[in-house]
Amino acid sequence: MQKLIIQGGKPLRGEISISGAKNAALPVLCAALLTADTLKIKNLPYLKDVTTMLTLLEEMGTNVFTNCRSEIDLTATNLSNLVAPYEMVKTMRAAILVLGPMLARAGEANISLPGGCAIGLRPVDQHIKGLQAMGAEIKIEHGYIHAVARKLKGTRIVMDMITVTGTENLMMAATLATGTTILENAAREPEVIDLANCLIAMGAKIHGAGNDIITIEGVESLHGATHSVMPDRIETGTFLVAAAASRGEVHLKGTRTNSLDAVLDKLSEAGAVIESGENWINLKMNSIPKSVNLRTAPYPGFPTDMQAQFMSINCVANGIAIITETIFENRLMHVQELKRMNANIEVEGNTAIVRGVPQLDGANVMATDLRASASLVIAGLIAQGETIIDRIYHLDRGYECIEEKLSQLGAQIKRIN
Ligand code: EPU
Repeated sequence: MQKLIIQGGKPLRGEISISGAKNAALPVLCAALLTADTLKIKNLPYLKDVTTMLTLLEEMGTNVFTNCRSEIDLTATNLSNLVAPYEMVKTMRAAILVLGPMLARAGEANISLPGGCAIGLRPVDQHIKGLQAMGAEIKIEHGYIHAVARKLKGTRIVMDMITVTGTENLMMAATLATGTTILENAAREPEVIDLANCLIAMGAKIHGAGNDIITIEGVESLHGATHSVMPDRIETGTFLVAAAASRGEVHLKGTRTNSLDAVLDKLSEAGAVIESGENWINLKMNSIPKSVNLRTAPYPGFPTDMQAQFMSINCVANGIAIITETIFENRLMHVQELKRMNANIEVEGNTAIVRGVPQLDGANVMATDLRASASLVIAGLIAQGETIIDRIYHLDRGYECIEEKLSQLGAQIKRIN
């Protein structure tokens, strides 16, 4: 198993480019199932989750043509295999995103029911409830969701809670339904807007993406298009926090500033000096960071995917921070690992109380999920001495070339087998 070895204590300095967003790329890849024509996708990040999704789409009958590392053509002329097997879904829950498009296009889908995962139970009841409201007959048998619908029908769907992939699945399904679908209490995440833009380029009629009510007027068929995946706001935030925690200065290119308001506000509150343009951000940290309280919330609130990284900067900040996780019930697993590095953190329910210490110590730690891994990398970069992070396959699911990018910023980091 691969590990990362980090020699901590060097401020990050320099310039890097931000990759395409994992959580925008995955639904956009699935949108290719909605048309027999070719969907060209640009700015695709080279990540484990992306290659897993491409393997799944290929198994369903999609032709995948790679133009270059970040650009592919997907053509789903005939969907020959309407199954997303357990082996795929268990390694990547986002495979549930094929359910809506496959059902809308082929009238049938068999998807392994995702189990719980490290960060929480993560049921998919809202995806199922929405498709049933659109007329699908759905049975859960032997761990699989069997869905059938000769033609989905547009309807009004009020989601019980805000769900990102739930909104994306239903929005994709509704593009080919008869009549109009209204999604209420929809997720407002920028990745939902990115998917809507891709679908609109394919001929879909969607209004309101980015608001909590999205209206989709079904069309007979969609056509090919070219779509460039939005920059990754969580990768951007992760590098910004790493730079701030190490008291360095970084310039990030190819990012999108307006998708990061809550994160940039918290970094300013911590004492960082931030300048930005439409597609770049510069962050400089001259002093010891100040502790910042935060509470995760659906967009435009503070993203759960940045909670772990802010835990690490708070570990070495001046003061006490209260961090509350409200989206997932088990997303504080990095706390135990950070404590092995001398962090002073107490957990009560879904809240962590972080008392800043002058110095973290390098240690052997274990990554438990994607963003927890990122928090350990940040902790390793600022700790005294050597940190060895095990199970870094989690990191490769969501960060493109992370050690190359960090090395470019002057970090002493290497991967070993
Ligand atoms: N939920 C339900 N029922 C549902 C759907 C969701 O109870 O049918 C609950 C979940 O258990 C959770 C909450 O609703 O407590 C929100 O979950 P959501 O469905 O929004 O999460 P997701 O769509 O499965 C996406 C991202 C996650 C990110 C969350 C929240 C993708 C592929 N994944 O997951 O990304 O944390 O939204 O913003 O878009 C990551 O990148 O590390 C990651 C986990």
